[in-house]
Amino acid sequence: MYYPDEIIEEVRLNSDVVDIIGSYVHITRKGGSHFGLCPFHHEKTPSFSVSKDKQMYYCFGCGAGGNVFSFVMAYENYTFVEAVKYLADKAHIDLPEPEVSAQVRAAMNYKSRLYEVNKLAARYFYMMLRKEYGQVALRYIEGREISSDIMKQFGLGYSTQFRDDLYKHLKAKGYSDKELFDGGVLLEDKRKQGTYYDRFFNRLMFPIFDVHSRVIAFGGRVLGDGQPKYLNSPETQLFNKSRNLYGLNIARKSREKFMILVEGYMDVIALHQAGFDNSIASLGTAFTGGHGHLIKRYVDEIIISFDSDSAGVNASLRAIPILKSAGLIVRVLVMNDAKDPDDLIKLKGRDSYEQLIKQAMPSFMFEVLQLSKRYDLKDPEYKTRFSEEVAKKLLAIEGKLERDNYTEAIIKDFNMSREGLMELLGKYGKNIGIVQKKHINADLNREEKRLKQREDAVTIAQKEFLAIIVSHKQIFNKVNKIITPDYFNHETLQKVGLIIYDMYKKDLEIEPTVVMSKFTQIDDQKLIAGIFGEEIKIENQLQLEKLLNDTIRSIKSNYLEARQKTVTDPIGLMELIKEKKELLHLYVSLEDIDRRD
Ligand code: GTP
Ligand code: MN
Repeated sequence: MYYPDEIIEEVRLNSDVVDIIGSYVHITRKGGSHFGLCPFHHEKTPSFSVSKDKQMYYCFGCGAGGNVFSFVMAYENYTFVEAVKYLADKAHIDLPEPEVSAQVRAAMNYKSRLYEVNKLAARYFYMMLRKEYGQVALRYIEGREISSDIMKQFGLGYSTQFRDDLYKHLKAKGYSDKELFDGGVLLEDKRKQGTYYDRFFNRLMFPIFDVHSRVIAFGGRVLGDGQPKYLNSPETQLFNKSRNLYGLNIARKSREKFMILVEGYMDVIALHQAGFDNSIASLGTAFTGGHGHLIKRYVDEIIISFDSDSAGVNASLRAIPILKSAGLIVRVLVMNDAKDPDDLIKLKGRDSYEQLIKQAMPSFMFEVLQLSKRYDLKDPEYKTRFSEEVAKKLLAIEGKLERDNYTEAIIKDFNMSREGLMELLGKYGKNIGIVQKKHINADLNREEKRLKQREDAVTIAQKEFLAIIVSHKQIFNKVNKIITPDYFNHETLQKVGLIIYDMYKKDLEIEPTVVMSKFTQIDDQKLIAGIFGEEIKIENQLQLEKLLNDTIRSIKSNYLEARQKTVTDPIGLMELIKEKKELLHLYVSLEDIDRRD
């Protein structure tokens, strides 16, 4: 842990969850809780609740939940430490210097030096654009009709034609060759090891920001024609290409419920200038699953708006499955009259781009459209083959309603015979598509699934057991010798168990958020929120008794089985067999529990 527990507790006590969340989300009081629209998924009726008593929040729609730290981490995309700092600052609490090992401290300091290098480089490029040498770049920017507001917002700059001026500038500020090199702004001379020069010269500079608007890298464009057109910073400790998107620091705050994914820096800039502040681009690299998940943190829908050439179409076809598997709804904007969004807005204006957004097609229809281009649909034979391909694609859609809708759309758009397509769907549906896919999956995964289901069941049992004992101290007193946290195989739940057992033994009140504050990962916090969010009422004693005994049996038998795999000596085995037998007869009765508990 980074800060002492007392400090974290002090920050938490001074950061009321209702106040903090209320400053981000509109919540209104209803009974004992506050409700509002969940900021973590899109919804029309409020299912997001914040409890002042418990100092926790929970969304019944998407399962997001936690305490005040979790909220700030999730909303601001902060680490635990960043969230503590942020809340401490709001509450005017001075944090002590963090307790970290010398090694960790050194690494942190080094990283913050690299941030400084990039920030200062951005500032230098920005300045140069306004100097005498910068005129050529400034004229280029004007030629591309970039307004001065947007130029500032994106921090555009210019790297001069001198190959060592940034190097000298930053050296004079006390940065070492290694820091500058590791920050990504230098290149090493291949012929003379240990000598460095500026990576960028005579280029229009686009600083690349992370989601917190810190400069982490650069893209540099040649002025006019020339190769390479763009030069980017290499991956560094700060810059991971598949975890960052150009424009995301602004787009994530957009009010739009979708984002627009384009190919280039200039497209992002032109779109933002035209008011589409939800536009982003991947950074001159292929689109990855990491990008998909990053986008899904902020929106549920993405519109791909790549260049209209065949490279752009192919890149769209590659990006679709990646974006879909991140859980996004994907549509594709098709442009016929321009080569890219930047171009289109210049030629036709922003309204016509807005119109194209409205008409953007579902990714499935886009895929079918591209498929159709490979066949001459006037030729009956090709048309049949196309129909066959389409039928297979339709069968790969899992939901029936969705499949039916697309079937209708395709019949209409491609002027297909309904009977013909239906016949194919029937024919293939029997031996390929859905049936076959399910079959193969079933065979391959049966064993895996069985294990996974068991694993899940044992995890659930551990969660429920904890939920019961945190709600009822009397029950804890009854069972704490039968089940101890050592029996838990889930790492986080075991830690939670240890904390709860310890608190009870010290006769402390179990406060959910105090327990939660001991965990720094948002997934752990969410898990814990689930334990405390579950209200275990004692009214129905028999039902509770059954639940308790089921969980005990599941946890203990799983534990004994795991032990059986490692025990080899005869005495140990005998002991184990005895315990297994005892488990068969074990039953905890709750008859004598005080129901007013
Ligand atoms: P303009 O031609 O100025 O309108 O640029 P653009 O942003 O429209 O770029 P383009 O469509 O040519 O390329 C799309 C993106 O691919 C760029 O924004 C860069 O991120 C990347 N890219 C293009 N050319 C190069 C190159 O030569 N090297 C690298 N590393 N990336 C490139
Ligand atoms: Mn362009």
